[in-house]
Amino acid sequence: MMKITIDGILLEVKENQTVLEAALSNGIYVPNLCYHPNLPAIGACRLCIVTIEGVKGFPASCTTKVKDGMIIQTNTARLRELRKDIMGLILSEHPVEIYSQSQLEKVAQWVGSNSLFPGFKPVVKDISLVLDEPLFNRDLKRCILCGRCVRMCQDIRGIGAIDLAYRGVDTTVSTGHYFSLKDSGCKFCRACVEVCPSGALVDKLEYKENRQEKLLPCNNSCPAGIDVSRYVRLVAEGRFQDSLEVIRETVPFPHVLGCVCTHPCEEACFRGDVTEPIAIRALKRFVAQLDTGRWRSKVKIAKDTGKKVAIVGSGPCGLTAAWFLRIAGHRVTVFESHSQAGGMMRTAIPKYRLPREILDKEIGDIVNIGVELKLNTKVESLNNLFEEGFDSVLVAIGAPSGMKGGIPGADNKKVLDGISVLHDINCSGRADISGDVAVIGGGNVAIDVARSVLRTGAKSATIIYRRTEEEMPALKEEVQEALEEGVKIKFLSAPVGICDLGNSLKLECLGISLGEPDSSGRRAPVPVKGSEFSLKFNRIVMAIGQSADVPESFGFDLNKKGLIVVDEQSLCCSMAGVFAGGDAVSGPASVIEAIGAGRRAAVSIDKYLGGSGNIEHRYIPQEEDIVYLGREKGFAYKKRVDIAVIPADERVKSFIQTECSLPERSALEESGRCLRCQLRLKISQVSLPLCKNSE
Ligand code: FES
Repeated sequence: MMKITIDGILLEVKENQTVLEAALSNGIYVPNLCYHPNLPAIGACRLCIVTIEGVKGFPASCTTKVKDGMIIQTNTARLRELRKDIMGLILSEHPVEIYSQSQLEKVAQWVGSNSLFPGFKPVVKDISLVLDEPLFNRDLKRCILCGRCVRMCQDIRGIGAIDLAYRGVDTTVSTGHYFSLKDSGCKFCRACVEVCPSGALVDKLEYKENRQEKLLPCNNSCPAGIDVSRYVRLVAEGRFQDSLEVIRETVPFPHVLGCVCTHPCEEACFRGDVTEPIAIRALKRFVAQLDTGRWRSKVKIAKDTGKKVAIVGSGPCGLTAAWFLRIAGHRVTVFESHSQAGGMMRTAIPKYRLPREILDKEIGDIVNIGVELKLNTKVESLNNLFEEGFDSVLVAIGAPSGMKGGIPGADNKKVLDGISVLHDINCSGRADISGDVAVIGGGNVAIDVARSVLRTGAKSATIIYRRTEEEMPALKEEVQEALEEGVKIKFLSAPVGICDLGNSLKLECLGISLGEPDSSGRRAPVPVKGSEFSLKFNRIVMAIGQSADVPESFGFDLNKKGLIVVDEQSLCCSMAGVFAGGDAVSGPASVIEAIGAGRRAAVSIDKYLGGSGNIEHRYIPQEEDIVYLGREKGFAYKKRVDIAVIPADERVKSFIQTECSLPERSALEESGRCLRCQLRLKISQVSLPLCKNSE
């Protein structure tokens, strides 16, 4: 440490600091623009000039190191005058309106140069706006040549996609030969945008609110809060067990999710704006398959709290809560009415998507840490559980009842509901279904039913859906695989009645056109006059929704849809100590959403039982990210890995898993396509003047 005096204040500062850093870190604002805390200083803009006793002229404080005993002035009348001149020069070619809320605007206001040259008209450079590149726009008329973007791209990231081109008054930031960003080698890390002080480089999306979350959309869109960016990076580094452990920090079902997650992270992935999103789910499956069990030694069960938790339902919500509550030291018993645990993961998801040995292993891991599983046990009363000595109850019974809908004839016994069909096929290997089958609906259940019945001997499977493929809620890859397997889809068709013809069923339909978007955001189906038609089938399966069937004896308040009413955040309901989560609260949702609910329930129940509610634990220490990315030929054009599937004519003969796992080389390449959005969040924020300089 050494002692210096700035503006009459004696300060103790670190050796090796610059005068600017010493001033800013002690709350003394010195205007600056080309300086950035993460970049090598170049002393180009000259706004940070100061006077130093015994030193001639006006040195730039960003390039001047502190010396013991230094006496510095930062805000004399002469310095203010000089800075106004400097700012006048900077703005002499800049559009009159400075980019709102930019560092440049704030510094200009502080320096007070806005009113410096009344009537002065800047000579604005004739450079057109670039709006057709991915993720950010360029408005180089606003560039003040501070060079921060270039230093970031070259010196810190090691990419060198942009540089200062031309000389003198023509100097501008440019990609080499005016190539597009993709052709220039840009890796779209957007560090250049982050450090631009003038609005010359601007994100296409606004990040004023919830900036951290919006800039890391993969992490933010995961309903369970998995640290996606971290585990993808670890795959790219070849640290596969570490990657798996990062996933395991948040969920006890990494392999199940690797097979069936609906991957909202991929929909949000910024890589999709450049080419195609990272195949995040496939990477999760890749690391889960390589599990050596190393993580087991890192699971530390807290000291017994003496508290007992009953969990009703062994689906993803209930079992996730059980996992975290057991780790928190509570005694956990899971009650399951069926003979096997897993809930809809076992009864609804076909085996060709989720092999049961994967599910069994991950449920086994939960049991192995001391969660008690009571199968074939139907809970009739929550009060009885409290009387048996449980201190808290989580109801996670799912929404396991398929609905048949209200069209005339749907009550015929040859008309089945999709969930029951899947249950029969998944649990007994067969269903009372053959011949030509119609499946009504456009969601994942409809696709699962159609693909499953083709595997159990149906002659044909035709999905009847009232909108188009674009509006189908089912996952795109599932629709594609279904079509390859021979499932037919009749779009823009709405069933209006079913007639029993003895040997067959007549499905009466209306043709549909799409109108304005409805409350779901999808275009509303509008019946077309005179478009009636009918089709004949042997069986009709309704896959149009599910209900929760919450037992009355549980005493819950239910909403109009028959779902349990809870406090959204804590998942507690009107009865003390009783919590509810998963599909019975939200309505039918995905496995990852149910896991997210299980985590929230665990937090609330732990708090209710006197714990801290902190269920976070680290298996892999948070490390400093390497900020150097380097150049990589064709990076921006790299395509998403092709995930191999077994040929359709072969896979449709059995329930063997259709999707092949990624080979190591593909996993490394795919994770290497990541834009590393998390690095941008590590860039320091600059110190801004809080108000106008009052001197
Ligand atoms: Fe120091 Fe620009 S010269 S901030």
